Amino acid sequence: MTLDTPATDRDWAALVDDDRVRTSMYKDPAIFDAEMEKIFGKTWVWVGHTSEVPDKGSFKTSWVGLQPVIISRDRKGVLHVLVNRCRHRSATVCEIAKGKTSSFQCPYHGWGYALDGSLRGVPYTEGYSADFDKSQMGLKKLKVDVYNGMIFASFDTDVEPLEDFLGNAKVWIDLFMKQGGGFPVKTAGEHQFKFPGNWKIQLENTTDAYHFPVVHKPFLQSLDAEGAEQFDFLEGDGYVEDLGNGHSVMVMMPELVDLEDDLDRDIPERFAALAETLRKDYDEDQVRRIVRAVGGTGFNLNLFPNAACSISFFRILRPVSVTETAIRHIALAMDGGPVAGNQMRLRMHEHFQGPMGFGSPDDAEVWERVQRGADGGPDLDIMVNRGDGLEKTSENGLPVGDVSAETGMRSAYQMWKRMMAQ
Ligand code: FES
Ligand SMILES: [Fe+2]
Repeated sequence: MTLDTPATDRDWAALVDDDRVRTSMYKDPAIFDAEMEKIFGKTWVWVGHTSEVPDKGSFKTSWVGLQPVIISRDRKGVLHVLVNRCRHRSATVCEIAKGKTSSFQCPYHGWGYALDGSLRGVPYTEGYSADFDKSQMGLKKLKVDVYNGMIFASFDTDVEPLEDFLGNAKVWIDLFMKQGGGFPVKTAGEHQFKFPGNWKIQLENTTDAYHFPVVHKPFLQSLDAEGAEQFDFLEGDGYVEDLGNGHSVMVMMPELVDLEDDLDRDIPERFAALAETLRKDYDEDQVRRIVRAVGGTGFNLNLFPNAACSISFFRILRPVSVTETAIRHIALAMDGGPVAGNQMRLRMHEHFQGPMGFGSPDDAEVWERVQRGADGGPDLDIMVNRGDGLEKTSENGLPVGDVSAETGMRSAYQMWKRMMAQ
């Protein structure tokens, strides 16, 4: 098998075994090109959250694989996901992260598009012959669907229904959204960065508890004793469950799976001041719900191929090239909730995810080192066998490993294999 073997002739399945994958998975540009076509060009890809496009005329720019897209809400409130590429000579028609507009106008020759992508205005139309059909020249549209506020898009018009694709992950999305604490969940700003490594290194990481006490020692040392104990979850009762279709959940703190359970439990010391502030405006029950919500859920939900719901934020990956990946860490807040609670969430986000934070910069360092090390020993494999042979079976008939098992990675790579076989 060589790099110039046509994509259709390559034996993609040979790259993935049950317990290991070939190192070329991180490095081969031909594999990357095929992934963009067979995975990001086919399945449901997370593009945004409904709170980012709340009103008629709201829009947000995003990506599906390598392709820039716009999420827009038209004058009837209907959501569209459009390829951000003018149908004339391909300029992007929008370069603003998010906002409100009544239309999109290409900056090159001025073609104007409605919020639903249809082509409305063509300057100096008389230069086109009578058979120029504007109705055929709208922005290319993707299939779009929403589950519990999460907007997904697909280039494949025959893709399976979103709810079927999410399958067993749906109940976990519902649990994750309980961190609104009784208010709707909204996005509240984000940290973005790129790292020089393959996208699957990041996909693996969200379901990797094994690295936590090693890479995140500085984070653990920055917490009070109670917090450090909470994050010392490798010895606890946590688990990783394969949810099918490449999705998985890593439960680090089982007592925080359902944020509305056992609200009578003691409020941790680090939230005592917040609780006191909230008591001025809320009854004790609400105070406890909000405090619990501010702390976030006790699990990471990994949604193949590009999204994660992690404790109290969305982690979205975007493949840029075979050796470059863009990450967005999107903080979440309570829409209409107490200012003090939302502020504390942002401070917690900065504490781990921020550019000077105690968590994400350390993650980025090891991801980069994985990519660098992969330049050595091409005959060696990437091992994802931790917990293999020790797993139990879930109610859904799928593997469940202990919290540090590489069950979620095996799930993602098996989905990778299935999709690449198409
Ligand atoms: S490229 Fe958009 S109008 Fe020409
Ligand atoms: Fe990490």
